[in-house]
Amino acid sequence: MDLIIKNGTVVTATDTVKADVAIRDGKIVAMGADLPLDGAKVVDAAGKLVLPGAIDVHTHLAMPFGGTTSADGYLAGTRAAACGGVTTVFDYPMQRKGMTIKQVIDSKKAICEKEACIDYAYHCIITDLNDGAILDEMESAVASGITSFKCFFVYKKEGMMVDDGVFARLLLKAKEVGAMLNLHAENPDLIDYNVEKFLAEGKTSAWYHYLSRPEYVEAEADKRAVHWAKHLEAPLYLVHMADKEGLEAAIEAKKENSNIYIETCPQYLEFTSEVYKRDDGRNFVCSPPIKGQESQDALWKAIKNGGIDVVATDHCPFQSHEKDWGINDFTKIPNGCAGIENLYPYMLSAANQGKLSYNQVVALCASNPAKIFGCADKGSIAVGKDADIVIYDPSVDFTISVDNMHSDYDHTIWEGIQVKGYPVQTYSRGRLVYDHGDFVGEPGWGNFVKREKRPTK
Ligand code: URP
Ligand code: ZN
Ligand code: ZN
Ligand code: ZN
Repeated sequence: MDLIIKNGTVVTATDTVKADVAIRDGKIVAMGADLPLDGAKVVDAAGKLVLPGAIDVHTHLAMPFGGTTSADGYLAGTRAAACGGVTTVFDYPMQRKGMTIKQVIDSKKAICEKEACIDYAYHCIITDLNDGAILDEMESAVASGITSFKCFFVYKKEGMMVDDGVFARLLLKAKEVGAMLNLHAENPDLIDYNVEKFLAEGKTSAWYHYLSRPEYVEAEADKRAVHWAKHLEAPLYLVHMADKEGLEAAIEAKKENSNIYIETCPQYLEFTSEVYKRDDGRNFVCSPPIKGQESQDALWKAIKNGGIDVVATDHCPFQSHEKDWGINDFTKIPNGCAGIENLYPYMLSAANQGKLSYNQVVALCASNPAKIFGCADKGSIAVGKDADIVIYDPSVDFTISVDNMHSDYDHTIWEGIQVKGYPVQTYSRGRLVYDHGDFVGEPGWGNFVKREKRPTK
């Protein structure tokens, strides 16, 4: 054995047991009471929880967007992730007209091989089918471990939007080749109409970002998407769901197509649209925008009853001076917020306060993402799995501040938010990468996660 984590309480999606965990060569090799020490290094986890590392399946690292590039690159983003108990990140590299999937992925791999501090995987964003060549390439992409793709119903002027025809083709091809299709669902025409109207009326504050794409704008697109997925019997993963009406339609559609999956993000669970009335409202601008109390209540209800499958971050921070571009015009605010280091502590704190169980948090943040996206070695504490482990102290209080985060951004929407309990150590394949407040990992340690394809009928 290389390492034994002793005396802790192991939490999986289904069980909570007192057990020692033994690690050799990056893998969990034994679990049970009083395991022989065998000269291994021993870590005492008495009074602590021993959890699988979180898998953040929604991040945008070094993403060119909104006239700039998101503030966390692969080094800073994965460093911060490790310090928040995340042991695998999924990034969203973007294919553009004329580019192949392989070109996009290879260019990101070259960066991550040097920079990633924890393991990483990619969902490839598709913005143009290249006259059908992309559809043809999807099968070989799946064979190379890229088993999920994404498209956007929005971001027309950024050249990222696809229409319903492209969406349907992607759905059908994903189903054929054993991939998952992820979707950002909002209605672009309603947004354009509202934006034009508000700007003409001189309504330019961050509050009008929200009012230009409120609940019904997201709901229309959610309903359209689940309608297609249901009738084409294709897999569909709805990213960052934030509205009640669309959520309820998606949960209903899951009854007829069990391959529909729903993700939400911590910012939608903690804040409401009221934040857009604040002086710093622009810092909370993301798309879809954070919705009203009714939607937040519906999200929490679905978190608790299993209607929502995954909580991930949509980590896409921008610096203050970039957010400031939109002080007098909400359309100039780069869309996106930070969260990669806050996901697991925030959700575990909710469990610590009795809002849901620790097992549910493990399901939402680790084991469901692993299952849905084909990471066979990840997502649980069990013999044979990668030793991606978080030791969590439920008794400490922690106040989030930009000063105690490990990203490259200069502000966070989570400033001042208090959480109960906090990770004390994170292990990535058995290697300590975070220790009591400090990053102790190394760039280049992270490996590409080659994922398994989904079953095809
Ligand atoms: O505002 C957001 N969410 N920015 C990142 C891109 C996206 O839509 O996920
Ligand atoms: Zn999105
Ligand atoms: Zn129908
Ligand atoms: Zn996103």
